[in-house]
Amino acid sequence: MDNGEFLTELLKRSDIVKLVSRYTPLMKKGGTYWGCCPFHHEKTPSFTVSETRGLYYCFGCKAGGNAINFVSEIESVDKSEAIRILAKEAGMEVPQFKASNRDYASEAKKRERLYKLMRDAARHYHENLYLPAASGARDYLKRREVGENLVKRFGLGYSVSGTEMIGYLKGLGYSVSEMQEAGIAALHVDEYYDVFYGRLIFPILNNLGDVVSFGGRVLAANPEFAKYRNGSQTFIFDKSRNIYAVNLLKKKKQTSGLSYIIMTEGYMDVISLHKAGFDMAVASMGTSLTATQAKLLKNYCERIYISYDGDGAGQKATLRGLDILSEAGLNVKVVQLPEGLDPDDVIKKHGAEFYKKLLDEAVTLTRFKINVLAKKYDLKQPDEKAKFAVEAAKIIKALPNPVEHEEYLTLVHNLTGYTMEALYKQTELAPLVDKEEPENAQPKASQNMDPSLKFVLASILAQKPYCDYTLDLFPYLEEDLPQKIYEWGLEGFKSGQKKRLAEFFEETPEETQPLLNDLINYSFLDGDGAEKYRECVKSFSIGSLKTKRAEIAKRFDETKDGKLLRDISELDKKIKAIRAGENA
Ligand code: UTP
Ligand code: MN
Repeated sequence: MDNGEFLTELLKRSDIVKLVSRYTPLMKKGGTYWGCCPFHHEKTPSFTVSETRGLYYCFGCKAGGNAINFVSEIESVDKSEAIRILAKEAGMEVPQFKASNRDYASEAKKRERLYKLMRDAARHYHENLYLPAASGARDYLKRREVGENLVKRFGLGYSVSGTEMIGYLKGLGYSVSEMQEAGIAALHVDEYYDVFYGRLIFPILNNLGDVVSFGGRVLAANPEFAKYRNGSQTFIFDKSRNIYAVNLLKKKKQTSGLSYIIMTEGYMDVISLHKAGFDMAVASMGTSLTATQAKLLKNYCERIYISYDGDGAGQKATLRGLDILSEAGLNVKVVQLPEGLDPDDVIKKHGAEFYKKLLDEAVTLTRFKINVLAKKYDLKQPDEKAKFAVEAAKIIKALPNPVEHEEYLTLVHNLTGYTMEALYKQTELAPLVDKEEPENAQPKASQNMDPSLKFVLASILAQKPYCDYTLDLFPYLEEDLPQKIYEWGLEGFKSGQKKRLAEFFEETPEETQPLLNDLINYSFLDGDGAEKYRECVKSFSIGSLKTKRAEIAKRFDETKDGKLLRDISELDKKIKAIRAGENA
């Protein structure tokens, strides 16, 4: 089976309705399934799935594609991973082929093997937590009030020696180089040892439920070792793409729904919050958040509370991460914890109720930034107060909406006593007169296309019976996508069989997919039929010939080449013929 055949078969076997239904409920209306879009927040359904086409499309955010695109988007994985997931479900083996320099088959195999190794290792670390040699780890957990059910929920474990795990995995048939590749084993002098030796183990699972790495904590502070050791970057683990406990977030969304997410910094914060009933807590594992992580989170929920250490969130690197979340369209609020305490400390010291109150009092990202800034200046000193107002104005100026300008300038006004007029001048923004929000609609990808061509292409894609293939359109189609659409339709017409669009979509370059989506989801009117089709063909054929004529006329002006005049009169004849109703 070659690349194309495999993907065609894979898409045929992937039930897109069943697939999408796992993430958003669908209702059948006519031949189309409708639901609320899982990619953007909405209350009235504008997301459609067509079984016959094998495609999905959102009229709101314009997301669309086939089953491979859907898995890739919703799980935040690349195409090769999406193909692997679908193939596994369809009971198909990814064949050996090279596509765009990627060997999907060996990537899929390597992934499967590493996932299995990590799962075996995680199980064994967990078993070993109950060995006599792990009594120190069990005592540690008791001291931190982590009970048995939490140990189970998070799959905690312990590495009892430098070599035990290596031997165990060897016994299961894994090679040391595989263990090294998984980030568990490292070569020391001439022997392999377990990099997590003596550490409490926190397995890190991805959103698909695979164990992709481990975090390991020392049981007692020791200046010689880092408090936490994370698994290294591997083929299946990239710290900047993963989020600790995202697997539990997904489960929660699927079982009881999710109205917000709490983002913390560390493993213990997550565990402590889950224990206190905040089972929507996840952790960024101590790094600044990235756009990939933002996208991953947005697939689950748009409201996110940042709950970093008392002084953690105000740091520059962290603020950048919070801006990234907000830029990705997440609704970010910052929980202001008491100085020097992390969520784990807060829960232990003040209890769950108190933490809930802090959540309720969480502030917007902008208010938080202004608060952080205000702390840096002594607002009783006139020169410092002025500096603060200038810096705050910069933050406010970057906001998109006039209502927000007004809101935060009022905050600065209250902190400094400067008049609103002066503050508006400082931002160089116009004061708010009319509280209107800007229109934020997505433009259509096909907005620049000739409407008659648009109608014809949409009709072909919809395989309307009135499409007349005795009219040869090919000479009038200049762009690649229209040509491909026409060929696709012609092929279907000749074979007499309805063709599915999912496969065609797969063959279309990514840049033109939004345009294709637009055409596939064209809104036909009552009465659209053969007559309109013929008129539209006529109209854009003439349009195309006129464009050509204009080009030649321009060249004639420049060169005065007599041969061009003959070409022009040829075109004129053709245009006349089409006008008279004879298709050339
Ligand atoms: P913290 O130092 O705040 O630790 O680091 P913590 O989560 O409060 O842990 P406990 O309560 O002392 O056990 C926050 C997160 O940063 C990462 C870990 O993911 C940790 O949970 N980190 C921290 C490291 O990766 N390495 C380190 O040496 C320290
Ligand atoms: Mn802590």
